[in-house]
Amino acid sequence: GRVLSVASECVPLIKTGGLADVVGALPAALAGAGWDMRVLIPAYRPLRGMAADWPEVMRDETLWGGPGRVLEGKVAGVPLLLLDAPHLYDREGGPYSGPGGDYWDNPQRFAALSWIGARIAREGIEGWRPDILHAHDWQAALAPAYLTYHGSGGCSSVITVHNIAFQGQCPAALLGDLRLPFGAFHPGALEYYGGLSSLKAGLVTADRITTVSPTYAAELMRPEFGMGLQGVIAQRAGVVSGILNGVDLEVWSPEIEPVNPYSPKAMAGKAAARAALCAEFGLEVPGPLAIVVSRLTDQKGIDLLPAVLPDFVAAGGGLAVIGTGDPGLEAAMRGLAARFAGRVGVRIGYDEALSHRMFQGADAVLVPSRFEPCGLTQMYGLRYGALPVVSAVGGLADTVINASPAALATGVATGITFWPTDALALGQALRRLVALHGDRKAWGRVQQNAMAAPVGWQTSAAAYAALYEGLQG
Ligand code: ADP
Ligand code: GLC
Repeated sequence: GRVLSVASECVPLIKTGGLADVVGALPAALAGAGWDMRVLIPAYRPLRGMAADWPEVMRDETLWGGPGRVLEGKVAGVPLLLLDAPHLYDREGGPYSGPGGDYWDNPQRFAALSWIGARIAREGIEGWRPDILHAHDWQAALAPAYLTYHGSGGCSSVITVHNIAFQGQCPAALLGDLRLPFGAFHPGALEYYGGLSSLKAGLVTADRITTVSPTYAAELMRPEFGMGLQGVIAQRAGVVSGILNGVDLEVWSPEIEPVNPYSPKAMAGKAAARAALCAEFGLEVPGPLAIVVSRLTDQKGIDLLPAVLPDFVAAGGGLAVIGTGDPGLEAAMRGLAARFAGRVGVRIGYDEALSHRMFQGADAVLVPSRFEPCGLTQMYGLRYGALPVVSAVGGLADTVINASPAALATGVATGITFWPTDALALGQALRRLVALHGDRKAWGRVQQNAMAAPVGWQTSAAAYAALYEGLQG
């Protein structure tokens, strides 16, 4: 079968978070399960040069104030369709915002992406017509709505929620401009607290709803996690499922690192990587060396670190952080580095290569999220024997086996989980980390379990394939 995947980010072309990793990894993962997937994303400014001589496979003269065309090509094995519409996407800045903040016309920019996704699904391009349109997050969520309200041509749809915090809300006055029918403006369909939400439009019109972990699928139906959409999702519970993200093992494997590679059977490289990481951050850490690799936002629970670090450092622990985001959290992280010089090191910025060196060298990775649809860094931690210390929410709860006495006794533990997400529970988790680290035999066992945990795409690719097959004729 054929699937058109529609999204706003895709590795290796454009990334602000895990969404890009997942969208970029799915085509190869699904090819193994017999599905031909192509990815439609906007041709943002940095991508236009690369695609300049790609063949044009579709045109649209009336794309919210200008013309658009779809260019077809392939990058790093990912079959791509780029929507080139300069008036919408050829801008200075990131995919969602520029120097002046969020782009004022984001509703229209991503309506256009969704519109073209629906057109490709309905009409096909050059002999390729998808059986299924798979939309990711609010940016693509109008695509299933367009199939419902403007004709599907027999194409089915799936929407995946990667993060319910982003809902694509806009004023009801945009209904007509977004090419949505007035007759559907009621609470059972498009209306959302008096306005519109592209995500809600996708959730009520797609044939299937998925999210990126089974626990988050359950959480989303509850007010504590649903962020206003819990009722909409609960109402469709029969078509909701949670499929865990996988890790691209060709990118994230300690065996293939250019410097200080290691494997479960030959761990010397990890000790060397730890020493190198300490040197790089100017640290000397007698106890466990923890890392944080994260967007610095409220979601990630980073604000809890200042409260727990004094005890952790006193117990011998150390911390290396890389992240960007909320200016207040960036300042708080810099403050920790100043206060605990030699034990805490901080880099504000985005650096993929450094993040690899950090997972290689670390004893533990901290992910104290308030909510986490799936999370990728805890899985990188497993893979690299950097034991995940995670709050037991969403995908974190589904991927890490807590080192409880029972799990230690049966030899299945892979990390440390805690709940709820507050400083008290995180502090206790860090004390357990220090104790486990002090028991070299138990530590080695948990580390081996972690590195053996199946975090690749195989199981999840099969789950997506089964979902798609269920939608076919
Ligand atoms: P989210 O998508 O909510 O940010 P995920 O854990 O799913 O969370 O994905 C985050 C991705 O971004 C991971 O691949 C992680 O390694 C990467 N990442 C986040 N911040 C940084 C950073 N400052 N430098 C390098 N990589 C980062
Ligand atoms: C979102 C979530 C993260 C998830 C990623 C990819 O950004 O915050 O938990 O791993 O999407 O699905």
